[in-house]
Amino acid sequence: MSIAERIQQLKKERNAVILAHNYQIPAVQDIADFVGDSLGLSIQASKTDAEVIVFCGVHFMAETAKILSPEKTVLLPEKAAGCLMADMIDADQLRALKAEHPGAKVLCYVNTSAAVKAECDLCCTSANAVRMVREGLREAAEIIFVPDKYLADYVSAQTGRSFIVWPGFCPTHARILPENVREEKVLHPEAVVIAHPECPPELRQLADCVTSTEGMCRYVRESTAREIIVATERGILHRLRKENPGKIFYPASRFALCMNMKLIQQEKILWALEDMGHEIVVPPEVAEKARAGIQRMLDFSE
Ligand code: 13P
Ligand code: SF4
Repeated sequence: MSIAERIQQLKKERNAVILAHNYQIPAVQDIADFVGDSLGLSIQASKTDAEVIVFCGVHFMAETAKILSPEKTVLLPEKAAGCLMADMIDADQLRALKAEHPGAKVLCYVNTSAAVKAECDLCCTSANAVRMVREGLREAAEIIFVPDKYLADYVSAQTGRSFIVWPGFCPTHARILPENVREEKVLHPEAVVIAHPECPPELRQLADCVTSTEGMCRYVRESTAREIIVATERGILHRLRKENPGKIFYPASRFALCMNMKLIQQEKILWALEDMGHEIVVPPEVAEKARAGIQRMLDFSE
């Protein structure tokens, strides 16, 4: 029996569901029950009937699933799979920033630890950050937005609101340079450019569409463009190619790789299901404080 078949068998025995982020390696995406962006995966985690969630992504995503479904067992098949951006701010640093701006509302990107989320009023993903600021924080006089300075810049450009920002960023997206996109455009003059809002502003300005990874899948599906330059982590190209066989995709940069997203393989999923290994634990008092902001994030997905 192949590893994939053993995973399917054990998944049934354990009443488990496999969720995978769009940046996971093809072999993981292909055996998952659901492949999506941070928001889509959180929605799936909150509504699944399964008793076990095998989360193929990075640590903050699995933590978010655990906070939304505390009664379920959430497994991260590779415990070292973290997010470099999420690691750029901790709860002490956020508390210090809040102390400097006592009247400010705090919006955190979902790419943060549970302890940081527990210090926030609202949580957002790249898919709903603009709406969250326009609608959820309309009344707020001052807003702290952590930890991604580039996402904050994007949301600011869309909403006209200014933020107290944290100097965090995603190293994977920061590695995609404007000249990379310009070179690809010269090579493929008919191609449109899609970019993730974690990209720096100079790169974003070259894009025809700036959106979350799920937004990219939707845009490509609905667009008449046949050639697309993709400015985000390269793992998404697998799904884009699979879903759009008639279209041609070019990664904006071959360096746009998130090594943490590549740490999970089919073997590790199988071992996690066998051993119930790398279970995510969030202290109940932290989960309690973080849940309201995450719930608001889901409310703003409809
Ligand atoms: P999405 O929510 O758009 O999938 O982004 C998650 C992420 O980590 C991007 O680097
Ligand atoms: Fe974090 Fe960037 Fe990797 Fe996304 S691509 S998980 S933001 S380090």
